[in-house]
Amino acid sequence: MNNDLIIEGLTKQFVTSNSVAIADVNITVKEGTFTTLLGPSGCGKSTTLNCVAGLEQPTAGSIRVGDFVMTDTARDLILPPEQRHLGMVFQSYALWPHMKVFDNVAFALKLQKRPSDEIKQRVQESLALVGLEELADRYPFQLSGGQQQRVALARAVVSRPKVLLLDEPLSNLDAKIRESARIWLRGLQQQLGITTVYVTHDQSEAFAMSDMIAVMSMGKLQQYAPPEEIYERPANRFVAEFIGVTSFITGILQNVDGKKATLKLASGELLNIRKENKSDYVWKEGEQTAVAIRSERVEVLTEGASERENTVKAQITTRTYLGSKWQYTVETSGGSLRLESTDAIQGDSLFMYLPPDSIILLAG
Ligand SMILES: Nc1ncnc2c1ncn2[C@@H]1O[C@H](COP(=O)(O)OP(=O)(O)O)[C@@H](O)[C@H]1O
Ligand SMILES: [Mg+2]
Repeated sequence: MNNDLIIEGLTKQFVTSNSVAIADVNITVKEGTFTTLLGPSGCGKSTTLNCVAGLEQPTAGSIRVGDFVMTDTARDLILPPEQRHLGMVFQSYALWPHMKVFDNVAFALKLQKRPSDEIKQRVQESLALVGLEELADRYPFQLSGGQQQRVALARAVVSRPKVLLLDEPLSNLDAKIRESARIWLRGLQQQLGITTVYVTHDQSEAFAMSDMIAVMSMGKLQQYAPPEEIYERPANRFVAEFIGVTSFITGILQNVDGKKATLKLASGELLNIRKENKSDYVWKEGEQTAVAIRSERVEVLTEGASERENTVKAQITTRTYLGSKWQYTVETSGGSLRLESTDAIQGDSLFMYLPPDSIILLAG
C-alpha cells in the first residue's frame, strides 16, 4: 500500500456564507512529492488545506493517506487534527511567544509524554535540520522572521508526520530571503521525502518548488498538472492569465481537420493552429474561439514579410523602452498583444510571425 494523499469530492460550504468555499475538489498527491495549491486570494486554498488538517469540517468528501482515512463525510468520519499525523506551518508561524525555541519544537512530543531523552534528541535533530541548533535557548522575539519560520518548520516535522501542510509560509519574509527560503525548503522536503501540500498565490514560487500545481479559482480546481504542463498547456483562460499570459487572439475556426485548423481573424488573416497533445479539446467549425499567445515566442518582423504563413499585421499602440529591449502593445484585428523586441521599430505598424508553439489552445 502506498501512502499517497487522496482528496476526493471535497466540498465546503460555510454556514455563514451563501456560496461554497470549495466545490468538488479532487487531488492526489503522490507519496513523497510536493503539490502546490495556487490561486488568487479567496479561491479556497486555505479551506482545502484546513480540511486536510482537520481544522475545518468539509460538507462533503473524503481525505485519506493510503488506507488511513482521516475524513469521510459519507461515514460521518472526521478525525481530530491530533490524530492525523500531519505537520502544519502557517503564514504567521504561530510560535508560542512565552516558550523558548526548544520548548516550541518539543511541545507535541511532551503532549505525547515521550521520555525526556528522546524529546531532547528529536528536538535537536529537527533544529539541526533547519540549521538552528545554536538557537534553542532563544525566545521567538529574539529571532528574525526567517529564523522563526524555520522554528515553525522544525516543530512541524519533529513528530515525523506523514504529510506536511504549509500555508503561505514564506509570504511574511522579504523578497530576497523568500527566494533563498524556497530553495532551502524544497531541498529539505526532498531530503525528508515527505509528502507536502503547499499553499501560495505566488506563481513563481509554485513553479520553482512543485512537482505538481493545482490551480484554483472560485473554489474550483482549474487544472492539476506538473509545472511544465501548466506553462505549456494551460487548461483555460483563467489559468493562462494567472500564470502571466496576457495576450489572446480571437477568430473563427475554419478547416477543422483532426489535429489542425485555421483561425480566421476579422481582417481575413489566417492563423494555422495545431492541437499537439491536447487531444481532449473539441473543435467546432465556424465557432468563435480565443487562443492564447505566448508573446515571448512571437517574432517581430521589421520588414513587411506578409506572405509568410502565420504572419499577422498589427498597429502599435504603446511603446516602452526597458533598457535592453522595447516593449510594445499592438492591436490586431483579433485583439491586443504585448510584445518585446530588441529592435526600435519605426512607424505605426509591424508584422508578427506567430510560430505554432506560440499559440496555445484553451479548453474553456
Ligand atoms: N470561516 C469562514 N466563514 C465564512 N466564509 C469563509 C470562512 N473562511 C473562508 N471563507 C470564504 O471561503 C472562501 C475561500 O477562502 P480561503 O480558503 O481562505 O481562500 P484562500 O486561502 O485561497 O485565500 C472565501 O470566499 C472566504 O471568504
Ligand atoms: Mg489562504
